[in-house]
Amino acid sequence: MFASSFTQALLAILLSTLPPTATAACNRDELLLTVDQFLLGLTMGQAGPLENIADDFQYIENNKPTVIVSGIFNNILKIDFNRTIIDMTTCSTFTEVVSATSFKPFVLGAQIRHYPSDNSVYKIDTIVSTTGSWFFNASQTLQYARQEKWPVIPLAQRDTRQTLQQAADAYLDMWHNKSAIDAVPWGTPCARLEGSVYTGKGAPDDSCKVGIPSNNTQLPNSDRRYVIDENMGTVSVLCNFEHLGNAPDSHMFRLEKGKLRYIHTITVADSSGWPVGRIGKAF
Ligand SMILES: *[C@@H]1O[C@H](CO)[C@@H](O)[C@H](O)[C@H]1NC(C)=O
Ligand SMILES: *[C@@H]1O[C@H](CO)[C@@H](O)[C@H](O)[C@H]1NC(C)=O
Ligand SMILES: *[C@@H]1O[C@H](CO)[C@@H](O)[C@H](O)[C@H]1NC(C)=O
Ligand SMILES: *[C@@H]1O[C@H](CO)[C@@H](O)[C@H](O)[C@H]1NC(C)=O
Repeated sequence: MFASSFTQALLAILLSTLPPTATAACNRDELLLTVDQFLLGLTMGQAGPLENIADDFQYIENNKPTVIVSGIFNNILKIDFNRTIIDMTTCSTFTEVVSATSFKPFVLGAQIRHYPSDNSVYKIDTIVSTTGSWFFNASQTLQYARQEKWPVIPLAQRDTRQTLQQAADAYLDMWHNKSAIDAVPWGTPCARLEGSVYTGKGAPDDSCKVGIPSNNTQLPNSDRRYVIDENMGTVSVLCNFEHLGNAPDSHMFRLEKGKLRYIHTITVADSSGWPVGRIGKAF
């Protein structure tokens, strides 16, 4: 009894002397603040607005470590569309940006990673496409992106992280694994915004199965980096399309009630050789 109450007293003294900031956790507002700063930076053509950067910060653009000021921040963008998903488990975000009306048009995706201890940013990982990239037409991408409705998924209908990631992985496995085709939770309607090309179109009888790879013995989509938001039913994957000459790629999947509803892709490869409607090469 004596020992335990003594320990309790000691503990109380110790706790009272700890600073109030001792409980560290990933903070949603901090993540969103960084996204705002990132977007502001893009509109200013400088990374300056980004605060709370970790000492070991790393910037990756199109799968390569890059000096931040020499990448996309070397342009001034007008942001016509942006959408962010939040992953509180890995303390990260993914933001899709369409800039159709800038001097130079861009469509990009950015995963931003934070240390949960102090919410500082240790990595910004971007896939940046512009004129010449796979089916690039930012005005058309903008038009389709704006039409879609991505409401928060009602609590009772939310899919687990595991379901979301498995769906994304099965889809990205199709290039090198034929059985993966049947593991994808195909939904109808489903629409795929592939660069600027709209496939499936979301009509009730359309699935995103249209144009999937018919050759399933190609090189894999590797180096996958995930951001998963259960509230939005959405998973972002940045990866390397080995079968397409190691093209940097971003795939974002939205599921509703366990089924694929939307796919958005950004692929930094030349699509000039691939006519729309080709079989087995669509993403
Ligand atoms: C990003 O999108 C949100 C929601 O549509 C909008 O309120 C905000 O102004 C946009 N940010 C920028 C920098 O355009
Ligand atoms: C981009 O798409 C828009 C809208 O569909 C179209 O009017 C325009 O001609 C396209 N631009 C190019 C360069 O293909
Ligand atoms: C191929 O995909 C199926 C379905 O997802 C999976 O069960 C199997 O393990 C995969 N095979 C390989 C070699 O990755
Ligand atoms: C499938 O892709 C592999 C790897 O690129 C290639 O060697 C093979 O010839 C292709 N098969 C068909 C039927 O196109």
